[in-house]
Amino acid sequence: MNPVIVAIDGEASTGKSTQAKKIAEELDFDYRDSGAYYRALTLYLIQNNINSNEDISQTILDKIDLKQTFKDNKLIIYLNNEDVSDKIRGYKVSINVSSYAKKSEIRNFVYTQLRKSAKSNSLVIDGRDIGTVVFPDADFKFFLFADSKVRAERRHKQINDKSVKLESIEKEIKTRDNTDSTRKIAPLKKADDAYEIDVTSLSIIQVFDKILQKINSK
Ligand code: DC
Repeated sequence: MNPVIVAIDGEASTGKSTQAKKIAEELDFDYRDSGAYYRALTLYLIQNNINSNEDISQTILDKIDLKQTFKDNKLIIYLNNEDVSDKIRGYKVSINVSSYAKKSEIRNFVYTQLRKSAKSNSLVIDGRDIGTVVFPDADFKFFLFADSKVRAERRHKQINDKSVKLESIEKEIKTRDNTDSTRKIAPLKKADDAYEIDVTSLSIIQVFDKILQKINSK
C-alpha cells in the first residue's frame, strides 16, 4: 500500500501539532512537525551567527543534520545529534524563525527531509504549506484557524509564566502569521481542497473528532 499523507496546516498556535500527534497515534502513522525543522535550522544559524539576510550556502547546509522521532505522543528533534526539542521553542527562535523560513534554500532543505520520510511511512504532518506545496496530492488536507486573542490566551496558559505578557504573545503570533502569509515562496494559505476548521470555540477533542470523522468518511 502507498504511504498515506495527512496534512494539517494553519495559523500559528491553533493546536495543529496537538491534533497531528493525536491523529498519528489514532491511525498508527508516523508524525513530522515541519515547523520544528524550521525552528532547528533557525537555532543552528543563529548559534553560528548566520544572518537571515545572507545567502545560506550548501557548505553550511551540509553541516546540518536534523532528525525527528515520534514515540509515546512525544516528538523529539535532534540537531547534529543533540536533542533541541526545548531549545527551539524559546523566544529568540520564535521571533526569528519566519525570516529564515522565507528563504528558498531553507525551504528546500525541509522539503527534502519531509519527502524522504514519506517514501516509507504513512505520515501526519503539520505546517503552513504541506497541503499546498510539499504534498499537493496529500490524501487528507486540513486547515485550522482561530481568533488571535483566543490563540494568545491558550499559548499564554501553556507557557505558564506570569512575566510573559499576553499582549506580547498576541503580537508575536500576529507578526509571524503576517510574515508567513505574505512571503513570496509557499505562503501560509488554505489549499483549495483543504477542509477548514475554525477552532476558536472548539475543544481539543471536538477538533480531533471533526478531523477523524472527515478521514473516516472518505
Ligand atoms: O509550527 P510552528 O509555529 O512551530 O512553525 C514555526 C515557523 O516555521 C512558522 O512561523 C513559519 C515556519 N513554517 C513554515 O514556514 N512552513 C511550515 N510548513 C511550517 C512552519
